[in-house]
Amino acid sequence: MSVRSTRVIAVANQKGGVGKTTTVVNLAAALSLLDKTVLVIDLDPQANATSGLGLAQQPGVSLYPVITGRMDVADIIQPTPYLNINIIPSELDLAGAEIEIAREENHLSVVRREIDRVLTAGVFDYVLMDCPPSIGILMTSSLAAADSIIVAMQCEYYAMEGLSVIIHLIEQLRASGVNPNLSIEGILMTMFDVRTRLSSDVVAEVREHFGDLVYDTVIPRNVRISEAPSFGQPVVFFDPQSRGALAYRVLAEEFVERHTKLTR
Ligand SMILES: Nc1ncnc2c1ncn2[C@@H]1O[C@H](COP(=O)(O)OP(=O)(O)O)[C@@H](O)[C@H]1O
Ligand SMILES: [Mg+2]
Repeated sequence: MSVRSTRVIAVANQKGGVGKTTTVVNLAAALSLLDKTVLVIDLDPQANATSGLGLAQQPGVSLYPVITGRMDVADIIQPTPYLNINIIPSELDLAGAEIEIAREENHLSVVRREIDRVLTAGVFDYVLMDCPPSIGILMTSSLAAADSIIVAMQCEYYAMEGLSVIIHLIEQLRASGVNPNLSIEGILMTMFDVRTRLSSDVVAEVREHFGDLVYDTVIPRNVRISEAPSFGQPVVFFDPQSRGALAYRVLAEEFVERHTKLTR
């Protein structure tokens, strides 16, 4: 296997509503401001990352026709309104891809195969995959294609339980040889509420178990973050001075720094 100069990262958690899409969209935005080139791959048929970056859903424009060999991956990559951010969009039909992928012989490697084709161009520093909120074939084949995973976790009760599910999945993908080098890039605590004791308790508990894997940066609950998607903009651009935007910019710095350490 060749060493990739692009790092492929899946943002995952089988739970919905934990901040995966928000993290993909805003980490991409914040990285672009650090002059990094990013390809976002929207793997959720809900297409929230697609609309969150200002693109309309278009029938037939997703990884689906690529996986089934009807289109070339290079032709499906779209520019976004933002410099340095490109996207492979999603749309509802991507749900149908689950079945088609399942029929393929090496079905866990189909996403990886397409990503490898993209990477030969060598133009991206990072590929960020927005995973759907369920352990299906789309999520599993995304994890099979990733170098590492950012686990987004909401600061709430039962967060830890969800984490053990995904860690088990990672172990299976490693042990089965599907993706022996898959690692956890980091655990990101989201929707931190300064007014509640619960948020601090959850962060403390996760740190106790996972130590340095947990990002120092914690994303606060911030109303501007939840408003930005309806304007089709990352909060980083929608309201650059908001606490949410600043948090994601600090995260991007921590992410890049961590990554430079890893590769040294
Ligand atoms: N830090 C935050 N503060 C406030 N609202 C948030 C925050 N992060 C996400 N949200 C909102 O919560 C909802 C779920 O977030 P989303 O990123 O779509 O989660 P997922 O992709 O895991 O399903 C969305 O409406 C989003 O705008
Ligand atoms: Mg999502």
